[in-house]
Amino acid sequence: MHQQFKFKTTQDLLQKAEELDLNLPFQESLDPLFETITIGSKTIPNRFAVQPMEGFDSNPDGSPSEYTFRRYKRYAEGGSGLIWFEATSVVQEGRSNPRQLLLNKRTLDSFKQLVDHTRQSAHKEFGNSHDPFLVLQITHSGRYSKPEGKPLNKVGCYNPHLDKRKEDITLFSDDELDRLKETLVEAVRLTHKAGFDAVDIKACHGYLLHELLSVYTRTNSRYGGSFENRIRLLVDVVKQAQQEIPEITIAVRMNATDGIPYPYGFGVPEDGSLVIDLSEPKVLISKLIENGCSLLNITTGIPYHSPQLVRPFDRPIGGSSVPKEHPLEGVMRLLNVTGELQREFNNIPFVGTGYSWLRNFYPYIGAAVIERGMASLIGLGRGSFAYPDAPKDLMNTGKMIHRKSCITCSKCTELMRQNNITGCVTRDSEIYGNEYKTIRQD
Ligand SMILES: Cc1cc2nc3c(=O)[nH]c(=O)nc-3n(C[C@H](O)[C@H](O)[C@H](O)COP(=O)(O)O)c2cc1C
Repeated sequence: MHQQFKFKTTQDLLQKAEELDLNLPFQESLDPLFETITIGSKTIPNRFAVQPMEGFDSNPDGSPSEYTFRRYKRYAEGGSGLIWFEATSVVQEGRSNPRQLLLNKRTLDSFKQLVDHTRQSAHKEFGNSHDPFLVLQITHSGRYSKPEGKPLNKVGCYNPHLDKRKEDITLFSDDELDRLKETLVEAVRLTHKAGFDAVDIKACHGYLLHELLSVYTRTNSRYGGSFENRIRLLVDVVKQAQQEIPEITIAVRMNATDGIPYPYGFGVPEDGSLVIDLSEPKVLISKLIENGCSLLNITTGIPYHSPQLVRPFDRPIGGSSVPKEHPLEGVMRLLNVTGELQREFNNIPFVGTGYSWLRNFYPYIGAAVIERGMASLIGLGRGSFAYPDAPKDLMNTGKMIHRKSCITCSKCTELMRQNNITGCVTRDSEIYGNEYKTIRQD
């Protein structure tokens, strides 16, 4: 049964985990979070990661605005060793929102400034030896493209679980997908020129490269039907990027399971049930590694379809119902899925997802996850909007402050869905509380 977070002590939390029969990793010592880790040629100062979080605050041309600079400055000054920059479109028509970041030759300089500013902010706060690892997530929003605010309804394949009316959609042609491959590889080149340490070829949450992984019913196409065809675009981009721009680390944020039945979802069995089936994701991961991917970030679900799989929460967005499962079960699913994959592919680091619901108790779970080899870095999404300096507080005092933590109220998601600039309404209220008032008045 769904319940809101109401735990005063870690003992209360562990008791609930036991009641739910969950083997929640937990340890008192936070030392594993402060261990360094090496990715490629770079040593990362600690195991705290900021997950990619769209702020929808770019300038109209897709370059970062003063709000974008502010968000990344806060992350850098907060001490996380790895900062995973948000979904950034590689073409105008693939933007999910008129204010989604857009990387191209014209905006490149502004991205360079964003990288420099973020690094300098970290160096100023912690000294030059604390150099955060900066990853940029590049994407095409596919089904969720709304470059002018209205859906373009263009998809890899009709999906009755996600599309309202088959008549309204058009399909990407194979030629368009071939061209997109070249554009994505060019964007990897630009990402490297901007000064990022790594690029993430986004393959999660229903956006185009993720959608393609489950287009079983796309016919007469090099990108549909067989497993080899469905993974083609993602694997080819990784391969070509690695060959042409070997200086940059290649990462993939990918869905391990979608919560949508076969033949429309990835990471589910062919019997039509929603049981998690990691067999295809595992083969995909081995192919990605073989072709040059050296960092993975695991997530599940599709925000518009199964938000509880993406981000366990106390309150859903306005108008939606609460899921049946307890949010702690949602957290545990993410931990277990990532754990199984990290243990199988233990030669490359995985970033874990889904910790924000745990509030100020997440470090005890995160430290135990690292200790047990279930992930190498602990990623915070909504928690980073709310409390970007949690790592710094932990460094200085060994504790987080409860009243600075994310309360998983879903107001950041509501801002995003209404095309507003996005951040924490509750803990960063001067900007985003005021922004939220504007949508409440509508
Ligand atoms: C407002 C908002 C924006 C997000 N933007 C992105 C994004 O750009 N790329 C991405 O892969 N995930 C995105 N996510 C998902 C988060 O990265 C993360 O996976 C999710 O919130 C669960 O982690 P958490 O429990 O720490 O919040 C977003 C989530 C929210 C609520």
